[in-house]
Amino acid sequence: MTIPAAGPVIACRNLCKTYWLGDLVVHALRDVTLTIASGEYVAVSGASGSGKSTLLNLLGALDTPTSGALSIADTNVTAMTTEALAELRNRFIGFVFQQFNLLPRATALDNVKLPLLYARNRIADPDGVAAEQLAAVGLADRAHHLPSQLSGGQQQRVAIARALVNNPRIVLADEPTGQLDSGTTRELLALLRHLNERGLTIVLVTHEHDVAAEATRRLQFVDGRLVSDERTEPLGAEAPR
Ligand SMILES: Nc1ncnc2c1ncn2[C@@H]1O[C@H](COP(=O)(O)OP(=O)(O)O)[C@@H](O)[C@H]1O
Ligand SMILES: [Mg+2]
Repeated sequence: MTIPAAGPVIACRNLCKTYWLGDLVVHALRDVTLTIASGEYVAVSGASGSGKSTLLNLLGALDTPTSGALSIADTNVTAMTTEALAELRNRFIGFVFQQFNLLPRATALDNVKLPLLYARNRIADPDGVAAEQLAAVGLADRAHHLPSQLSGGQQQRVAIARALVNNPRIVLADEPTGQLDSGTTRELLALLRHLNERGLTIVLVTHEHDVAAEATRRLQFVDGRLVSDERTEPLGAEAPR
């Protein structure tokens, strides 16, 4: 797959998401303006209900904003059809969730293979590609296990292999270590760091300080607003914001 010319992988301006529940109006995201460059490792923190998951769902084209502009991989997504959004997700974005979200009756290999079956450009050997991806997360010998036969950390690694199998530009992870013990958390963070060092853009939601400390940029949300944006490492030539 060819990757579009370098530019921000994600850019949003005055992004808002509002939910109406009867008479109640919830401003889940308020006026978020943000650019994420290729290769960044971004942690998103904030109290429960501050809009972190809402943001991630918008950045991953799983949901559409109420107002504001959003582009993903140099594509303006604000006016896209559902089908076009699905294709963009499939090509550019990998998701990892706190609850793993694996299919319980499918083996590790079949779970990893799933996104390949939806890809527009069918590949010749989906089993081979999925097996390679499982090996890359250290699970070559668990390919034919069901999720229930794997530990939490192994299940999350299967989920990461699934997120990576279409060779995405961005991985969005919503509290991926929330269900893991501290040892498994460290293993998972080492894997994410390795992927970032190989050029993958990562946006990771967490409320744990030591997990956020892994990232090279930290965003903080309060009540749907972006209140702080700090880089701990300078970002080469791609820094204009
Ligand atoms: N589908 C929805 N319908 C109505 N309100 C929602 C929905 N999703 C989220 N919210 C509300 O939006 C706010 C932000 O939620 P969320 O993004 O899930 O926060 P976080 O992930 O930081 O805990 C919360 O007040 C939440 O109750
Ligand atoms: Mg959340």
